[in-house]
Amino acid sequence: MATGGNRPAPCPLARGTAPAKIILTGEHAVVYGFAAVALPVRNLQAHASVTRAAPGYGTVLVAHDLMRSSRLRDPDPALQALATSVQQSLAKTDMDRDPDWIIQIRSQIPVARGMGSGAAVACAAVRAVAQAAQADFSDADVNTIVFQCERHLHGNPSGIDNTVIVYNRPLLFGKGQDPVFFTPRVPWTLLLADTGEPSATVAAVQAVAALRASAPGRVEAWMEEIGEISREVHTLLCQGREGRLPALLNRNQALLRRLGVSAPCNERLIQAAMDAGALAAKVTGAGLGGQVLVLAAGEDRHTLGQALDAAGAQAVRHLVL
Ligand code: MEV
Repeated sequence: MATGGNRPAPCPLARGTAPAKIILTGEHAVVYGFAAVALPVRNLQAHASVTRAAPGYGTVLVAHDLMRSSRLRDPDPALQALATSVQQSLAKTDMDRDPDWIIQIRSQIPVARGMGSGAAVACAAVRAVAQAAQADFSDADVNTIVFQCERHLHGNPSGIDNTVIVYNRPLLFGKGQDPVFFTPRVPWTLLLADTGEPSATVAAVQAVAALRASAPGRVEAWMEEIGEISREVHTLLCQGREGRLPALLNRNQALLRRLGVSAPCNERLIQAAMDAGALAAKVTGAGLGGQVLVLAAGEDRHTLGQALDAAGAQAVRHLVL
């Protein structure tokens, strides 16, 4: 649909990129206003490009990884959130609402694995559209549009995923507050082990909401502790001290377990990592599948990778932050 025949692909008018993300501490509690720490993962990127199409063609979205394409004016439901981001971007420019463009998306970020793939794809597309329209979007403009995409995908997002992805910087995040960007000074080795099970953010957030409604006092206390953990982790990272970092990550995992978002597939990898000498291991992102984050002593990286493989990890990645 996009290029046709054996003709060379046309040169893009514009391109946009955005990184993946991980949540180091504070997932779920952040939905209720408690602090969380998130980091961009720059060795996994979403890419968008805009090329000119024949006059009268209109705008076509091509999501290569999902093997779907769709007209912007009548989007495939699977591309609705992306289409909405593109429509909102166009509405902020002087372009007409259905320009003759092909917007192609390719992403290295695994889908539904707690790494912000939907937000990253939307962010890359918004940046490419702005550039193709020769419009000057600030990061705040992009963030507003990508947050709407997150609402479409996840219902009640805290805003942490879109913010860390759009600004592409480690941050301490609290809902409704300005993010605090920082540069971590701890020389750490982080691995990400994929359970192979999709993490359903909406289901996980709803399950936590139901638990909170049934035991508000207890859940509030756990979330408050998670928020304190995130603030202490932020301080340690800024000061360049590992200190209690492993203990704090492990305590966060214990509280995520109580929140009910650490599924057997997460526990299997966490146990394997800890048995093989990891300093800490926890769910990252919404949980109930998705990924497990492992903090390793540098020299243990290969042993840990092997132990995680043996425990059934679908992929083990070394994070470059
Ligand atoms: C998902 O990456 C993080 C959650 O806390 C949801 C959110 O903050 O929107 C589970």
